[in-house]
Amino acid sequence: MIKGKKLYEGKAKIIYETKDKNLVIQHFKDDATAFNNLKKAKVEGKGVLNNRISEHILTCLSHCGIKTHLIKRLNMREQLIKKAEIFPVEFIVRNIATGSLTKRLGIPDGTHLEKPLLEYCYKKDELNDPLISREHIYSFGWATENEIKIIDNMTIRINDILTGMFRAVGIKLVDFKIEYGKSWNKDTEQKEIVLADEISPDTCRLWDVKTEKKLDKDRFRKDLGNIIQAYQEVARRLGIMPEETNISEVNFGRTIPIKFKKK
Ligand code: TMP
Ligand code: ASP
Repeated sequence: MIKGKKLYEGKAKIIYETKDKNLVIQHFKDDATAFNNLKKAKVEGKGVLNNRISEHILTCLSHCGIKTHLIKRLNMREQLIKKAEIFPVEFIVRNIATGSLTKRLGIPDGTHLEKPLLEYCYKKDELNDPLISREHIYSFGWATENEIKIIDNMTIRINDILTGMFRAVGIKLVDFKIEYGKSWNKDTEQKEIVLADEISPDTCRLWDVKTEKKLDKDRFRKDLGNIIQAYQEVARRLGIMPEETNISEVNFGRTIPIKFKKK
């Protein structure tokens, strides 16, 4: 698949056009950001790991009947995906309270929630992706009531599948963020809602079942170190990386800070 011109560059990924107007190439960068770009670094090898982990997870989800944007992984850093009109909403699912929920509402960190909590944030970097209600989504036409009904059902099902997948390898799925879009289905010749995001340790909180060790981007957000080792651990447990694989490549796993401005 020949890579055309760059269509969009986000914080962790780049999208390139292809000859097919309905398909694009998604490139995973090594850049890590937190607090809406205030903290930034290059974590060498992260893009390769997220590409593999996300491919594995989206493939498993699609085997369970979830429609996703993924067509196939092309190489170490790239995937061929369906072009999607992204809803300007981030869908967050929480199984255990931590992060912004504990700060916002004073809920003790680590509180197990009786049932998964769904939150919606407006995707707008300039406003720091504010928390919104469903009514905001309908009022401003960011998605219809029917679309949100479909998305909520998909999200709850994804949470069930992922919770089981991670639990089986000794990991608690604490929370995660996903995005959806509308893409062209060439068989039905209609647009349909698809999961249009990566699912990786960048976008999930993953804790070891026994030790509660963090195996996700909180290692970067909170300066806990060994970021790439944690992502490799997730890949290894999911069976994507052979047991004996170690960080052998020069620079693999090195974190190069770019900037860190205090708010
Ligand atoms: P939060 O506790 O900071 O609101 O994060 C909730 C979940 O969403 C957590 O798994 C991290 C993920 N997340 C992203 O993937 N991107 C983001 O920009 C933010 C703020 C959170
Ligand atoms: N991805 C967001 C940022 O760039 C925040 C986060 O994941 O914590 O800054």
